[in-house]
Amino acid sequence: ATCSDAPAPPPRGLASPATRQPFVIGVCGGTASGKTTVCDMIIQQLHDHRVVLVNQDSFYRGLTEEQSEHVEEYNFDHPDAFDTDKLLECMGKLKGGQSVNIPIYDFKNHRRCSESFRKVNVSDVIILEGILVFHDQRVRDLMDMKIFVDTDADIRLARRIRRDTVERGRDVLSVLEQYADVIIPRGGDNHVAIDLIAQHIRTKLGQHDLCKFYRNVHVVNTTFQI
Ligand code: ADP
Ligand code: C5P
Repeated sequence: ATCSDAPAPPPRGLASPATRQPFVIGVCGGTASGKTTVCDMIIQQLHDHRVVLVNQDSFYRGLTEEQSEHVEEYNFDHPDAFDTDKLLECMGKLKGGQSVNIPIYDFKNHRRCSESFRKVNVSDVIILEGILVFHDQRVRDLMDMKIFVDTDADIRLARRIRRDTVERGRDVLSVLEQYADVIIPRGGDNHVAIDLIAQHIRTKLGQHDLCKFYRNVHVVNTTFQI
């Protein structure tokens, strides 16, 4: 047989359904860094393979009534915000060659849709993307390859404001409230930013000391009055 007659071997590292488990790729990165976009582009390129995308966002825990009343205090960027046991259950099944029903998360109401799921079928490649997919050792252990998507914080913020106001039922203020007060580009090389921040902290500490002083004066006065 000539080379061209031989069946093409599966690409190195990718699953051959009869012999191997699916190849699992973890894609992590900051909010609105382009994780989903990158994954979609990889999936398009691998069109001759069965590739599925699993989003960590699908495993956000729904808020209780009480939490919903104080949603501005809820931390959606903490590992506990995700139902990681459920994610592990679904990933375990997929890796073992079973199709699964993945929850659908409603960003507008911060809840899981109770009546509908997304059916994800058996595949050669599973891509798991999310802001904290590298946090849990058990999730990391599932991965054959890890990718980090890096995009400047100011670009991410601009994208997030647009996306969350258009698609996720948010207003600009609520997006900004979840964000940092100050972003330092170029880290430790940015001496101007660090000097300004140190100066601001000093001013705040000065105000704090002044408040303490007045509180003490008040207490002393009270004591005298007694
Ligand atoms: P993530 O999954 O990391 O949150 P997305 O891929 O969903 O990020 O991208 C966030 C938003 O930014 C989306 O609205 C998307 O259309 C947009 N976006 C992503 N990549 C680019 C890009 N290279 N240029 C412009 N907009 C982009
Ligand atoms: O798609 P992306 O990776 O940006 O989604 C994660 C982000 O969604 C987190 O930064 C989190 O703060 C935000 N989020 C939110 N409201 C929710 C759930 C998640 O703002 N109900």
